[in-house]
Amino acid sequence: MTTNEKPIGVFDSGIGGLTVVRALQRELSNENIIYFGDTARVPYGPKSPQVVREYATQDVEFLLSRDVKMVVVACNTVSAVALDVVQKLARMPVIGVIVPGAGAAVAATANKRVGVIGTVATVNSNAYTNAIRQIDRHVQVFSRACPLFVPLAEEGWIDHQVTGLVAKEYLFPFKLEKIDTLILGCTHYPVLRDAIRSAMEPHVTLIDSGSATAAEVSRTLDASGLRNPSTQHPNLQFYVSDLPSKFTEVGERFLGQKMGRVRRAEGFLEEETRK
Ligand code: DGL
Repeated sequence: MTTNEKPIGVFDSGIGGLTVVRALQRELSNENIIYFGDTARVPYGPKSPQVVREYATQDVEFLLSRDVKMVVVACNTVSAVALDVVQKLARMPVIGVIVPGAGAAVAATANKRVGVIGTVATVNSNAYTNAIRQIDRHVQVFSRACPLFVPLAEEGWIDHQVTGLVAKEYLFPFKLEKIDTLILGCTHYPVLRDAIRSAMEPHVTLIDSGSATAAEVSRTLDASGLRNPSTQHPNLQFYVSDLPSKFTEVGERFLGQKMGRVRRAEGFLEEETRK
């Protein structure tokens, strides 16, 4: 296998990163992809940066053992608090979701007032605020953690009235803050896009960090000469750290297509369990 034919490695704390895989597939229809979801230890969002950094190390080590050509950190939480850890370990291009999402928001805002929603860890890290300010220091950023969106998306309560109420409760302060752009800074939120849309004023632009990231991956493949020239049907492989059964059921909703085989990541954390 040539370097260009090698897969892009994508990892997430669990299932949510499949929304990023979906965006990658839309943008890059012939790239092979290996996905790893740490379903045994999800969620990362409520955990401390130290713990997330330790988990991210193990996650990327698994992907590197599968001989990938590039790493995409699909998880906003990991991208916010541990991107440097991943970059240090992987001697290859590493793309997180924060900088592309921030760039898309700065490009979209007219009144320079941007909202960000994400997990507690992502919001506490200020990673989006810092990334946005680095591009344009005049943009004001308003951030809010929306942790309940994660289980609601996994439960499939897409158009359930409870989701509508939760969205209204979380998002109403943004009206007072007069934002015109909102970053969906968590892998799960694109699944709840309609409920989020309904809770916001119609003129507010929603930014999906996953889609912005897919565009950045495409640019990086060209810039580093790593694009796969093959026109064969791409190979998609899914690995998880817990038993695969539930992952497939919920995952197909996030991915928007049938998943095929999902495998348990052999060797992942086994040494640690033996200690
Ligand atoms: N994947 C996480 C993120 O994008 C959400 C789920 C979790 O808390 O682990 O931040």
